Amino acid sequence: MKLIHLTDTHLVAPGRSLYGIDPAARLRAAVRHIVAQHADAAACVLTGDLTHWGDDAAYAVLRDCLRPLPMPVLPLIGNHDDRARFRAAFPQVPVDAGGFVQWVHDTPEGRLLLLDTVMRGDEPGRKSAGYFGGGRLDWLRAQLDAARADGVAVFLFMHHPPFGVGLRAFDDINLNSQDALQFAALLRRDDHIRHLFFGHVHRPISGSWHGIAFSTLPATAHQSALDFHADVDWFSHESPAYGVALITPEQVTVHVCDFLYAGPLLDPASERRDAPPPEHG
Ligand SMILES: [Fe+2]
Repeated sequence: MKLIHLTDTHLVAPGRSLYGIDPAARLRAAVRHIVAQHADAAACVLTGDLTHWGDDAAYAVLRDCLRPLPMPVLPLIGNHDDRARFRAAFPQVPVDAGGFVQWVHDTPEGRLLLLDTVMRGDEPGRKSAGYFGGGRLDWLRAQLDAARADGVAVFLFMHHPPFGVGLRAFDDINLNSQDALQFAALLRRDDHIRHLFFGHVHRPISGSWHGIAFSTLPATAHQSALDFHADVDWFSHESPAYGVALITPEQVTVHVCDFLYAGPLLDPASERRDAPPPEHG
């Protein structure tokens, strides 16, 4: 089974750019690439920061950009999104009993649990950080129990990582420490979780946490510079990407696709050890 992972599309109203980039042009290029290469994917998940300012015009652009995708499209929200405006623009996306944008999606290889880690609006703290209060943890516990009872594997998708990634500017705004402790305690006891996908960091990162494999990706919009010392999250124009997860009962393999690459494709046989040195005029 193949899953497509897109993240941090940061769309803005038509005609605007963001940090010198046209986020909609980037997303349309990614979608064209996905349609051409991965029309067989079981689903396409977007792990939040769908828009940059959460405005209605940007959600309209998002709807239009995603329309060509032939597979189920599962969009999560991030800290740059506006939950109410997202729900108005995407009324078909399920929410839990508390109105949080989190739901389950079954696939042939397991159950996708799609989580909402965005601040409620009445919580103290930084809006850019992640939160999982308001009954969300109980919802996740119930879904993990149900998946265990059903004997299905679980794949988690969320915007904020529930841990630090070693980048100071981002480690201040991952899932807040109190919610992250409870989140870790809940997940540690579950061996049905096969992979955790997240967004937020705008960089390609993979590893494991409490034995759970994880991966995240470059944004389709701007990137974060790799600087382990800066207090500021400097943005960069490094290449965007999307992810292709190949999933079997034995293995999860995550590819990172540089969908804007327009350089040459080189025949491996075109280089010969005994080739004469180039002539210099
Ligand atoms: Fe983002």
